[in-house]
Amino acid sequence: MKFQILSSSKKRTPADLLAIGCFQKVKNVKLVESVEPEFLKLLQAATRKERFIGKAGEILSSIQTAYQEAPEIVALGLGDPKKYREISLREAVGKIVQMAKAKKAVRVRILAESFTDGRIKLPDVLEMMTETIMLASYSFDKYKTKKEENLPEIATVEYLLGKKASETVVNQKIAKAQIIANGVNFARNLCNEPGNIMNSITLSQAAKEMARESKLKCQVLGLSELKKLKMGGILAVNQGSKTPPALIVMEYGERHKKKGTVCLVGKGVTFDTGGISIKPSKDMEKMKYDMAGAATVIAAMQTIASLSLPVHVVGLAAVVENMVAENPQRPGDIIRMFNGKTVEVLNTDAEGRLILGDALAYTEKFKPKAIIDFATLTGACAYTFGDKAIGLLGNNQPLLSKIKKAGEVTGERCWELPMWEEYGKVMKGHHSDLYNIGTGGAGTITATMFLKEFVPEKTPWAHLDIAGTAWCDQPRFDCPKGATGVGVRILANLLSNWR
Ligand code: BES
Ligand code: ZN
Ligand code: ZN
Repeated sequence: MKFQILSSSKKRTPADLLAIGCFQKVKNVKLVESVEPEFLKLLQAATRKERFIGKAGEILSSIQTAYQEAPEIVALGLGDPKKYREISLREAVGKIVQMAKAKKAVRVRILAESFTDGRIKLPDVLEMMTETIMLASYSFDKYKTKKEENLPEIATVEYLLGKKASETVVNQKIAKAQIIANGVNFARNLCNEPGNIMNSITLSQAAKEMARESKLKCQVLGLSELKKLKMGGILAVNQGSKTPPALIVMEYGERHKKKGTVCLVGKGVTFDTGGISIKPSKDMEKMKYDMAGAATVIAAMQTIASLSLPVHVVGLAAVVENMVAENPQRPGDIIRMFNGKTVEVLNTDAEGRLILGDALAYTEKFKPKAIIDFATLTGACAYTFGDKAIGLLGNNQPLLSKIKKAGEVTGERCWELPMWEEYGKVMKGHHSDLYNIGTGGAGTITATMFLKEFVPEKTPWAHLDIAGTAWCDQPRFDCPKGATGVGVRILANLLSNWR
């Protein structure tokens, strides 16, 4: 997909489709008149008859050979300008992609200025548009032997701009958006792969390939290294799998005196059957996305490197498969984790915290200034927030606030849950230091209280539970049904502004 900017003062040949944004009652009169006076007449007539008044979500489409920009024009309602937010813009852009697909438009032109409201500046509009167009155009069809319905994809997006726009700034923003959207779509690709294809070996290969292309360091610790390191959590969870476990370690940049090192940690359970504490069969197929945290970290490393962000980042992905086979772990097993603490595994389905515990403790090696982990950790989080928010917890308020703010900008909302000491009591073990599950509800919080036991002392740490947000069952304006690639954008935004 190509993105181009076109100056409205220069000559141009028609595209297949022109998209125009229209705020409620404010009719963009001058702007529309300057590029497509014929359409303005139609728009004004439609407004008079209240067939299209620019309400958010409204669409007016028209085909006329007399149009100059494209034979087909769609106007998208943007609603009340006072209520216009980043999400309104993104949703409208999602509609453009839908319309382009439905109308088989390959070359799409957008009257970019019609989507600005003064608050969201033009370069940012173009960034959000580019990102959303690429995300909304994503599909995972590599296993389809016949391309479904054979719909053509958008090949070229042309942003029609007035004279005032600075081309360099605008082009930078478009390039940045392309890198970020590529990152999100990369995470989606990893995550949509089924469990028979995506395992610790193939995921490690994907990470190594990415690292080679992005000029990152990448080391994969395999079975023998993990045994040597005594990573009891990772080893125990993977015990029932034919495939060996892996701890993928990726490194970007060099340690910065003031900014230090940021460690990213991802849960990579390539399939979670629950183990002996087996899951019900309904929806179990979705547990291939239990490696979404690892996908986010791997894709974020690519994105951070492509953006050349001035930070030192170490990305860790703990990769296992939670199976029932000859020799899986038993409920009641007591294991010793990497940091020496012992855990009684009351439920083998609470496996994410066991592998993350080891990976979190391992970050101590890098003396991180901050640790951020991503995990599809608890069904409770998906119950609480559905696919609308990430559960955010941690030990450092400034770090949590920064993440929350980043999520608001990127449209990946985070909502904080408390980490009151009382919640930790139920995780105290009887014959061991810890149990791996609690009692009395608050599953997302008690899981995080468990993780806290493995975070290196006095290190700012944030845990993002993406159980509900890493997958969408219903297609969304910027994502088809399946993996969402959540978290990549938060990290790109957060680490762009890291100090
Ligand atoms: N991978 C699951 C959590 C999950 C559930 C993610 C639904 C996405 C959608 C995790 O390993 C798990 O099974 N957690 C258990 C913990 C329980 C046994 C304490 C859960 O949440 O039910
Ligand atoms: Zn589980
Ligand atoms: Zn799991």
